Amino acid sequence: MRRIAVLTSGGDAPGMNAAIRAVVRTGIARGWDVYGVRHGYAGLIGDDMASLSARDVGGILQRGGTLLGSARSAEFETVPGREKAIRNLNAAAIEALVVIGGNGSQTGAHCLSQMGFPVVGVASTIDNDLAGSDITIGVDTALNIALEAIDRLKTTASSHQRAFLVEVMGRRCGYLALMAAIAGGAEAVLLPEVSVQPEVLAKELHEAYLRGKPHALVVVAEGAKYNAERMAEYFRTHKDECGFDLRVTTLGHVQRGGIPGAFDRILATRLGNGATEALARGQRGVLVGFIRGEVVTTPLADVVGKQKPLDPALVEMAGVLAR
Ligand code: F6P
Repeated sequence: MRRIAVLTSGGDAPGMNAAIRAVVRTGIARGWDVYGVRHGYAGLIGDDMASLSARDVGGILQRGGTLLGSARSAEFETVPGREKAIRNLNAAAIEALVVIGGNGSQTGAHCLSQMGFPVVGVASTIDNDLAGSDITIGVDTALNIALEAIDRLKTTASSHQRAFLVEVMGRRCGYLALMAAIAGGAEAVLLPEVSVQPEVLAKELHEAYLRGKPHALVVVAEGAKYNAERMAEYFRTHKDECGFDLRVTTLGHVQRGGIPGAFDRILATRLGNGATEALARGQRGVLVGFIRGEVVTTPLADVVGKQKPLDPALVEMAGVLAR
C-alpha cells in the first residue's frame, strides 16, 4: 500500500475532523500518501482531491464540521457515477478509500467495494442508526447540545407553567430523542419507532398538569409519526386538553454544529486510526465501529440496510421516570 484517500460524506458530525486527522497521521506514519477528497462522493466524481500532510490536519481536532466538506451525491447513486469515481481513484493511483459517514455513506462504500475497489468505512452520524457500532461519531456531542437546550427550556417552561415540544434530529431512529428525554428528565418522548396518538399525549400532559408539574417537556424525534409541527397543529385546535400552554422549539442543525466533546474526539481518533490499521492488515469492505468498548470491524455487507433497534427497556424506563 502506498496511497490511500479519505472522504467525509452525508450529514456532518462533530468529531469528523478528528477522524480525518487520525486517518492522515496514521497513514503517514506507515509511509503512505494520504489524499483528502473534498465534498464526499461528489468530489470523487469531480476528481476533487489533494494530498494531505500531517500539518494540513493540524489544529482541526477541536473543530466541528469537516475540513473536507461533505455532500449527498445523487450521481454517485448511479452505476456510471460510481464507475467515474473509480476511474478517478485509479488515475490518481489511490489503492484504498476510507469513508467517514453514516448509513447512506456506508451503502455507497459497500457499492464501491462490490465493484472491486478497496474501501473501509468509519461509523459517523449523530443519528446512531448504524449497525456495526454501539455508538457513532457525533452522537455524544449532539446529545449534549440537545440537553443544554432542554435544560434551558425547562427553566422558562416552569416560569410560565408551559409545555414544550422540543424536536431533535433523527429521521428513522429515535436514539437521540430517547437519550435526550432520559438525560433531560422529559415528561414524554415521541419516537419514529413507537407511534403515539395526539390524544394520548394530551392525556399524559394533562395528568402531569393535574399532578402539579410546573412544566412538561416532550422530546420529539423529527421522524416521529407526529413530529413537532403536526403535534402542535393538534394542540392548536385542542387547547384545553393539555392543561399547559404549549410552545415548540426545533433544534435542527444546531445539534450537528460546534465543538466536539472529549468523547467524540477520542472515539473519532480511535476509529480513524482503526480504519488505517485495518487497511494495513489487508482488511477490505468493512466498517470500523465501537462495540462493547472495543474498536472492531464488521463486514459492510452486514451493516448496510440494517435497522438498529432501540432498547425497549430504555423506552419503558423513560416512561416510568417521567412520572
Ligand atoms: O443523518 C444525519 C441527519 O442529521 C439526520 O438526523 C437528519 O434527518 C438529516 O441528517 C438532515 O439532513 P440535511 O443536513 O441534508 O438536511
